[in-house]
Amino acid sequence: MAIQYNINNNIFTLNTKNSTYQMQVDSYGFLLHLYYGRKMSGEADFLLTFADRACSGNPYDAGNDRTYSLDALPQEFPCRGSGDFRSPAILVRNEDNSCDCDLRYRSHVIYSGKYGLRGLPAVYAKEREAQTLELTLEDAVSGLQVVLLYGVLEEYDVITRAVRVINNGEKPVHLTRIQSVCLDFLTGSYDCISFYGRHAMERQYQRIPVSHGAFQIGSRRGTSSHQYNPMMLLAPRETTEDSGICYSASFVYSGGFRAEVEMDQFNQTRMLMGLAEEQFSYPLGPGEDFYAPEVILSYSREGLNKLSQNLHACFRKHLCRGKYRDVPRPVLLNSWEAFYFDFNGEKLCDLARAAADAGIEMLVMDDGWFGKRDDDNSGLGDWFFNEKKMGMSLEELADQIHGMGLKLGIWFEPECINEDSDLYRAHPEWALAFPGRKPVRGRNQLVLDFSRKDVVDYLYEEICSILDGGGIEYLKWDFNRSIADVYSGGCGDQGGISYDYILGLYDLLERLIVRYPDLLIEGCCGGGGRFDAGMLYYTPQIWCSDNTDAIDRVKIQYGTSFGYPISAVGSHVSVAPNEQNGRVTPLQTRSYVAMSGTFGYELDIRGLSGEEKEAIRAQIADYHRYAPLILDGLYYRLTNPFRDEVGGWEFVSEDRERALCFAVMLEVHGNMTVNYLRVKGLLSGRQYRCEADGKVYDADILMEVGLPFPAKMGEYRAYRYYLSLCK
Ligand code: GLA
Repeated sequence: MAIQYNINNNIFTLNTKNSTYQMQVDSYGFLLHLYYGRKMSGEADFLLTFADRACSGNPYDAGNDRTYSLDALPQEFPCRGSGDFRSPAILVRNEDNSCDCDLRYRSHVIYSGKYGLRGLPAVYAKEREAQTLELTLEDAVSGLQVVLLYGVLEEYDVITRAVRVINNGEKPVHLTRIQSVCLDFLTGSYDCISFYGRHAMERQYQRIPVSHGAFQIGSRRGTSSHQYNPMMLLAPRETTEDSGICYSASFVYSGGFRAEVEMDQFNQTRMLMGLAEEQFSYPLGPGEDFYAPEVILSYSREGLNKLSQNLHACFRKHLCRGKYRDVPRPVLLNSWEAFYFDFNGEKLCDLARAAADAGIEMLVMDDGWFGKRDDDNSGLGDWFFNEKKMGMSLEELADQIHGMGLKLGIWFEPECINEDSDLYRAHPEWALAFPGRKPVRGRNQLVLDFSRKDVVDYLYEEICSILDGGGIEYLKWDFNRSIADVYSGGCGDQGGISYDYILGLYDLLERLIVRYPDLLIEGCCGGGGRFDAGMLYYTPQIWCSDNTDAIDRVKIQYGTSFGYPISAVGSHVSVAPNEQNGRVTPLQTRSYVAMSGTFGYELDIRGLSGEEKEAIRAQIADYHRYAPLILDGLYYRLTNPFRDEVGGWEFVSEDRERALCFAVMLEVHGNMTVNYLRVKGLLSGRQYRCEADGKVYDADILMEVGLPFPAKMGEYRAYRYYLSLCK
């Protein structure tokens, strides 16, 4: 049993393979957090200490006991008004404008399997793979109930948390803050690892000490955003990639969020993660309920790399879905960096011919095929195939592409609308905008009001009418701006619009994947602006960044690898000089970086030399050989590209018999010092043959010291070492 309840002292214990999470309902009915860490079989209530803390309040029912204060005790779901002055998990505004809420234990239930969340993505599991604990807390005065949901996936060292709030009272309330997780640590000095960035430079690694004063990341953009990824890691100072304890929290949501960590006055650490609270004030009438999105927690005591491996496995097997979940995706050629808006059917077919000749398996027709769309100023919203521009019908195009043995993919940006579009002219009220004010434009486009069912229904019909024509195997789902004008003409109370928008998005995606189970959807948001666990529930791969430069990508994909599986990372070979930063890199380097993801190309390969085309043919053949290892293997980060001269990473088969290492020289200097690539995850005491030079190497030396890098001249060279166990 992963979840145990001790009726004698009201202790709940959640066990995974290597971790234990424990909490207790105390004599006042408060739910206190006791422990989260290495697996243990004891009870941790002795860790609670009580002292008279001046200026920390005492609950009324503690009587004269001044030593009982929620300001100092670790809690599962702290609320304002309880005497805890730290950051709360929930804030409620009652009808009389009071903001009090006093949550006490009321009941619980434990069952096999994993809970689901209405309208929201969540980790899924079979009955025997997970257990759920539902703990109900209640505010006796207002009747508000809070159901804390805990899902335990033992195998993955994963515990999920989510919250359902039910208004069981007779008066309406507003939820003004709801966090899905609160983690209180009684002791310890932690570093916080988070991933910041910008368009074309997403998920840059940052590790800073948690100190007095809150450190907060989040997004107010209506997307999870390029700026901060909805993931936060905590690790004591001494924890490294390969050793030490660490915790992760990943938000399974694609809109605004906040994550916060603070060391309090008693040197305790509190971490919170949940929905963004600005412009959030969710109305809950009597009898209504609200689901706060899930947070996936994981724990490792074997360093950060193991923590990532836990998440990779869990996301791949229990979050991503569909036909493509477990199989290598088709190697694709995307038209964007090849043609931008300048193409027609014939040109695409020409490109497809060259692609087929190189061994590419799918042509993706990116932006520019619909409505009046010769640049990014018009046409969004008009999802009809522009036969005039394309010189043929979609059916004819699909027939030709299929005739070459290729699959066909198509680009959509369903959530946006240009003012210069037939749809906007017919339905200006469908765009989000504040009444009486001009909306903020982003890429010269507005955002459709996905909190409205009629808008979502309309888009569903439009997308289906394209997909029903047949012949489309892949859809790239883009979203190219942030949401500024959070106001829906279709709704009175505006406090829930941002959340309802994301529910609308998820509803549309869900309907499409149910109707087209064979369709592969790739998420995209101006590159990686919505690279989150929520989207991965619908789209098993996400375009990682609009930056296709291999050297920047080493860092972007490094940051991404902390929280997301390699099978999710959309990655393409593009032209040199690179079109985002002008950098020139060898084709081989570009291919190594791109094949460490869902492999594809994004350039006009028609113009390449015979030698380059030959190289591409060989890369694709290599990819097919290595793809199962790349997608299913254990992923190891071998270097830190933010610190080291080399970017290095590795895929190791579960049985440890095969390993594929990649290394990219990020810097060159005169009279170079020697870099060694320290390999990980091999079988100690054994030998491995390296395919590149045919030599046999001792595994322990490879893991202790590493492979010396060849001292070759020239920038950004890359190396690949395929090692197989000598039997
Ligand atoms: C975004 C995407 C690109 C491309 C363009 C098309 O920027 O990230 O890959 O699809 O839109 O407009």
